[in-house]
Amino acid sequence: MQKQLPTNTAILAFLCSFIVISNAQSLPPAWADGFVYENGPVDPNPIVIEAFFDPVCSDSRDSWAPLKLALTHYGSRVSLLLHLLPLPYHDNAYVASRALHIANMLNSSSTFPLLEQFFKYQDKFYNDQTKKLSKASIEKEVIEIAAVAVGNSLHAQFQAAFGDTRTDLKTRVSFKFSTSRGIYGTPAFIVNGFVLPGVGSPMDYNGWRKIIDPLVAAEKVEGDEFDSKNFERSVYLYK
Ligand SMILES: *[C@@H]1O[C@H](CO)[C@@H](O)[C@H](O)[C@H]1NC(C)=O
Repeated sequence: MQKQLPTNTAILAFLCSFIVISNAQSLPPAWADGFVYENGPVDPNPIVIEAFFDPVCSDSRDSWAPLKLALTHYGSRVSLLLHLLPLPYHDNAYVASRALHIANMLNSSSTFPLLEQFFKYQDKFYNDQTKKLSKASIEKEVIEIAAVAVGNSLHAQFQAAFGDTRTDLKTRVSFKFSTSRGIYGTPAFIVNGFVLPGVGSPMDYNGWRKIIDPLVAAEKVEGDEFDSKNFERSVYLYK
């Protein structure tokens, strides 16, 4: 008996480490995080906006309409990549974020329509409104809302995807990606790789114009200098 103990302990330790390893998240993942917003053709070197949203955060909701308006205004000059950051103090942020990953997998053109559905019915998912509801009933509500955006014909697949560990993994990666970029609140925006000040508060349309207009103008000047006979001069200027 005493002789057996170390062996059993060793086997147990081995099994535990195996279980831990097989559940571990290998990072970086095989895919890049983020949902690309389809806004028609995009220039080869667009100004890149990355937005970090929590689908059940009211400030994320309030920032979406002005950002969408700005995207329409700038057209092909600007691209948007949306990342999710399900905040731990929003009880239903994770299930809603997972639903967005499922939508993106089953019907990618339904991702942003579903985000808009969540924004529209957001009050159904606030902490106070759901504190007496079971996880299962909240998931059911999410699936009902999602069916409208994703398509009723995908209802059963959508439901099944909540049991698929890959959709959990993708949502975890979103969380890890956002936090690894130093983003700790929503909404947050990164433009051409730089975090905009004011994390956690929505930006209005004029705010976007103030940030993006000068970038578009600067891009144009650089482009003109390159195209014109002044190329040598601009090379000199950049030395
Ligand atoms: C995919 O989503 C779009 C946008 O909501 C919708 O118009 C389309 O019908 C959906 N496709 C299917 C197969 O349901």
